[in-house]
Formats: sequence, structure tokens, C-alpha cells
Amino acid sequence: MNKQQQPATKLGSWQVYKRLLVYVKPYWFFFVVSFLAFALYGASEALSAKWLQHVVDAIEQGALEQRTWLALAVLGIFLLRGVGTFVGNYAISHVGRQVVHRLRTELFDRMLTLPSSYYHQRSSGELLSKLTYNVDQVTGAVTNAIKTVLREGLTVVGLFGYLFYLNWKLTLIFVVAAPFIAVVVTIASKRMRMLSRRLQKSVGDITNAASETIKGYQIVRIFGGTEFERNRFHAASDRNRRQFMKMVVTQSLNTPAVQLLIAMALAGLLYIAMHPAVMGGMSTGEFVAFLTAAGLVTKPLRALTNLSTIIQKGLAASESVFEVMDEVAEPDSGHHRVERVRGELEFDKVTFRYREDRDAVLHELDLHIPEGKTVALVGRSGSGKSTLASLLPRFNAGWSGRILLDGVPLEDYQLHNLREQIALVNQQVVLFNGTIAENIAYGAMAGCDVEKVHAAAEAAHVMEFADRLPLGLQTEVGESGVLLSGGQRQRIAIARAILKDAPVLILDEATSALDTESERHIQEALEQVMKGRTTLVIAHRLSTVEKADMIVVLDQGRIVEQGTHQTLLEQGGAYAALYRLQFADL
Ligand SMILES: Nc1ncnc2c1ncn2[C@@H]1O[C@H](COP(=O)(O)OP(=O)(O)O)[C@@H](O)[C@H]1O
Ligand SMILES: [Mg+2]
Repeated sequence: MNKQQQPATKLGSWQVYKRLLVYVKPYWFFFVVSFLAFALYGASEALSAKWLQHVVDAIEQGALEQRTWLALAVLGIFLLRGVGTFVGNYAISHVGRQVVHRLRTELFDRMLTLPSSYYHQRSSGELLSKLTYNVDQVTGAVTNAIKTVLREGLTVVGLFGYLFYLNWKLTLIFVVAAPFIAVVVTIASKRMRMLSRRLQKSVGDITNAASETIKGYQIVRIFGGTEFERNRFHAASDRNRRQFMKMVVTQSLNTPAVQLLIAMALAGLLYIAMHPAVMGGMSTGEFVAFLTAAGLVTKPLRALTNLSTIIQKGLAASESVFEVMDEVAEPDSGHHRVERVRGELEFDKVTFRYREDRDAVLHELDLHIPEGKTVALVGRSGSGKSTLASLLPRFNAGWSGRILLDGVPLEDYQLHNLREQIALVNQQVVLFNGTIAENIAYGAMAGCDVEKVHAAAEAAHVMEFADRLPLGLQTEVGESGVLLSGGQRQRIAIARAILKDAPVLILDEATSALDTESERHIQEALEQVMKGRTTLVIAHRLSTVEKADMIVVLDQGRIVEQGTHQTLLEQGGAYAALYRLQFADL
């Protein structure tokens, strides 16, 4: 099986940007629209300088009859600008939100295929903040940056065009300032990228602290964790604030620094322009219009120099999103497919460790389970029972030795096909938002026969409490099923497994939350269900495993005993000792 992959390497800015542009491509039409709209906007800026030239000239020449068209012209110019702003903003935001939506859904889809080791290494808060906050930041690089390039860029082009047309030599003074501006911008954008990464991390910390406190609110309160959690959250939020302020400082220093450079260019310009030799060639209107246009150009120029800081924010976000997308999905290279396996299982010298650098959790396990038989795994907690069970659906990969299902190595099965063959009930029952019936007929079983759902609910003794609820099986069980007791939730999980009717059944402490009485009831139901399918039962209460065809005792990842209840008791070994212990307790 595949080795654990390394996290994705950091991509260069341009590579990240190119990759991002792939998402933008399908919306080229909206781009063209926004380009045209922002071109209108840019033209209106140049036109307003031109308009001023006409006004001043008209006043100077006493041509006051021109006031009608000059008044109409100003309305026209602002109408152009208004239309350009609206259409341009709309079109570019459309692109931006589409890209965010696609990135976000793709990220989620990727998360659905990542191996469990990925989830073991990361906090849910970190993953949640990637899906919510980081993805949203990408708009900086696509929408805001492109909007600035188009709107301010086209305005600058329009104004410069007009300036060149009026007096190209004077206009060249601006060019002198360019390299100085470039230096300031480069320094600012480097810092911005670094700060953005830290900001993202701090958002992850906030989500983490919050979600843990929300989920574990009872533990927090009873163990006096309120103060600790408060401090943790306040610290995370304060870190976030500080990172944000550092970004603001960077951005706010960038702007006036650039502004000062532009002002110096403007001062030089004015000084030279008012030289008699230069002024002579221009009308007053032209001169005023020239200075106005030169003044107008500073705002979009400044916005353009802010561009790279905006882009850096977006790139830092895209980077973190692409990092997840580049994670290797669960290995699924097998081609073997069957409608329904018989269920014969064979473990052949299986050794497993969670990480390369850790001790093995399972040592050279040999175990044969004939089809349709029930094997009970018992042993102290931490002995490796759940780990052994988790190998069957390939939740954990990378074992050595062989695990065969119907004589075929597990990794040769198509992952989806393999998992179709297995029903699982474990200790942590997960209930989804929806009704009890929807929770039983979950996933691929959604929309299955109502009768069947009912029968499964009956068999798992769900009806016992569902009948007492006003809406029966149609009762909403809410986000975390707070309405139900642990035992009731477990019964729903068992009903789900019964309904799946898979040839291999794994019950990992499936009845641990039930009282002895209910367990005995369900035990009968489960015995019915176990008939004709290969079952792996893990249970602490030995009374529930007595009837298993074979009992396997695990200790520190090794099989220390194996046999039926009767033979193991007679042997007087580990199992017999465990058994005596439990019944002495009662
Ligand atoms: N995701 C994991 N990463 C690293 N070690 C783990 C992980 N899950 C379990 N372990 C370790 O593997 C051993 C066996 O655990 P487990 O199979 O859950 O035991 P059992 O189900 O018998 O109580 C324990 O020492 C545990 O610490
Ligand atoms: Mg366990």
C-alpha cells in the first residue's frame, strides 16, 4: 500500500496565480464585459479633464452660449461613469464569487477523499477555517485585483493618453518616479504575504478554540475550564487582531509613501510646466486640464500600487487551499469488483503501525474467519481491537502482511466496492441533521423502502422509544441528536447497520452505551442479524460475546488466546481471568 505522502511543497507566486486563473477562465465573457465597462469608466475620467479644458477656454473666450452643451456633457460623463461602475462591478464580482464557490466545493470534495491519517493530523478548526475564511480571501487575488487592474489601470491609460496628447515631454516626469514606487511596492507586498499566512492561521486557532468549547461545554464548565478557554479564545482573537493591524500598518504606510513619490513628481511637473517657455504653447484651458489630469491620475496610480498587497493576500489564501487539493487521496488502485462477497476473512502476518516512527500497534497477526462466522475480539483497552477492525474498510492503510477477503487482498478491491460489503457500528455514534428514519436510511440507502426502514428500526429496538415520540420515526434528531440518550443513539446506529444488510458486519463496542437489560434485548436481535454474515464483535462486556463462534484475546497487538467460550474457560488463561474478574464485579 502507498506510503504516507509529504505535504505539498510551497508553490511560487506565479505558479499559484496561473493555477488560480484556470478557475477564472470559464468566465472569460464576464471578463470582457467588465473590461468594456471599466474602459467606459476610465474614459469618463479623461473626458472630465477634457470637459474642464472646454469650460475654462469658453470662459476665457467669453463663449457663454456653450453652457448648454457643457452642462449636458457633465451629465453624460457621469452617466457613463455610473454605468461603467455598475456593470463592471457586477461582472467582476460574478467571476469572483463563482471562483470562490468552485474552489470551496472542490476543497470539500477533496476532503471527502482524504485518508483518515490526514484527519488525525489536523484539527477540525483548521479545516473549517480553510473552507470558510481562506477560500473567501481568494477573491482578493481574483476579483479585487482584477477590478483594480481594469478600472484603475484603464483610468490611468485614459488619463496618460490625454496627458501625452497635451504635452508628452512634461508627462515623462512621471516616469522618473516609477522605479522608486516599485521599490516601496515590492517591500510592502513581501511583508503582506507573510502576514496573510499568519492571519489565516490565527483564524484557524479562533475556530478551533470556539468549536472545542462549544462541543465540550459541559466538560468545560464542570472541570472549571471556563477561565482557560476564555484565555485561549481571547489570546487567539487578540493574535488575530494584531496580525490584522500589522497588515493595516503595512498597507497604510505603503499608500502615503507612494503618494509622496507621486507628489514629488507632480511638484516637479508644476515647476517645469509654469516655466514661461513651456506655458507659452498652451491655452489656459489646456494648462488647467493638464494639471487636473495629472492630479486625477494619482488616485488610480496609488490604487494600482496597492494591487500587489491585495494579490499577496489572495495568493496566501489560494496557497493554503491548493495545499489541501494537492494532498493525495486515499489509495484506490484496485479493480476487483463483486456484487456481494461471501465474507471469508484471512489475516496473514499483519503488522500495522500508525506512523513509520512509532511502535507497531498490531504484530504479525494471523487469523482466519470462515464466511458467516462471528469472531469476538476481547482484550484490554489499547490492545488494538479497534485498529484491527479499522483495517477492513481500509480506514488505515500501510500494513504489512496480507488481509484477504474471499481470497482477494483488500487493496485489490475497488475502495467503494469494498466498503459496500461492510456495515459498521462503532462507539462514537454520529447522527446527522434529519429525522430518525433519514438517519437509519442514510447515504446510499436514502429513499429505500419504508417497510424495510421500519423493520430495521424494529429489530434494533428503535421503535421502543420512537413510538413514544409524537412524530415517531419522523422525529428530527438535530445536529448532534441532543434529544436522544446515548443508548437510543446507539440503537439508531445498529438499525442503520441492519438496514445495510452487508455480508461483513463490524460491531465495535456497539452496545456499550446500553444498559444490561436493553443490551440483552438487542443482543437477540443482533444474533439474528449476525446469522449468515461474517461478524467482528468487539465488546467489553463478555456476556455479549459468549455465543461467538470464536473468541480472540488480544494483548498489546498480539493474539494471546483463541477459541470458544467453553474451551477458553477450561484453559484457564487470560480469557478465564478476564471472565472471573467481570463476574466478580457484578
Ligand atoms: N489514530 C491513531 N494514531 C496513532 N495511534 C493510535 C491511533 N488510534 C489508536 N492508536 C494507538 O493504537 C493502540 C491501539 O488502539 P485501539 O485499536 O483503539 O485499541 P482498542 O480498540 O483495543 O482499545 C493504542 O495504543 C492507541 O494509542
Ligand atoms: Mg476501541
